[in-house]
Amino acid sequence: MDSLTAAVYLPPLDNPHERAAIGHELAAVLHDLVALSLTGKQLHWMAAGPLSHSLHLQLDELVDSWRAMADTVAERAVTIGHTVDGQPAAVAAGTGLTPIAPDEVQDNLLVHEVTHRVATVAERVRARLRRVGEVDLVSQDVLIGVTRELEKQQWQLRVQSGAHR
Ligand SMILES: [Fe+2]
Repeated sequence: MDSLTAAVYLPPLDNPHERAAIGHELAAVLHDLVALSLTGKQLHWMAAGPLSHSLHLQLDELVDSWRAMADTVAERAVTIGHTVDGQPAAVAAGTGLTPIAPDEVQDNLLVHEVTHRVATVAERVRARLRRVGEVDLVSQDVLIGVTRELEKQQWQLRVQSGAHR
């Protein structure tokens, strides 16, 4: 255990010198999840077409799950001694998600827009797994859980849209 870890009772990572690097990885995931939840709420409000009501309800379920994931990821980051910033400016600067135009979105297009963004975030989180796991298996476990849930949502949205792959 290094002296800093001992002094402030931080978890002893396999490589404590990489604590900040893991914190940055978790912060990046936090930014994507917050952006995803904000976009989901935007689509919740702007859903149009025959399926708009069911999509309106479904989007709130998804937003709840993304916000819960963001909370878990942020709390893992601060648990290992890293600060996080989930405020609008930090999220806008840090996310890899593209914004959606603030107009009504027809139901068939909406499913595509959501699926694309869930897949994008899932892919970006999955790409961090190996790197995080080399330093901290517990943080990796958090990101594996996020990836598993996002990929499950990706499957559900995929079959909902009628796409086979
Ligand atoms: Fe609402």
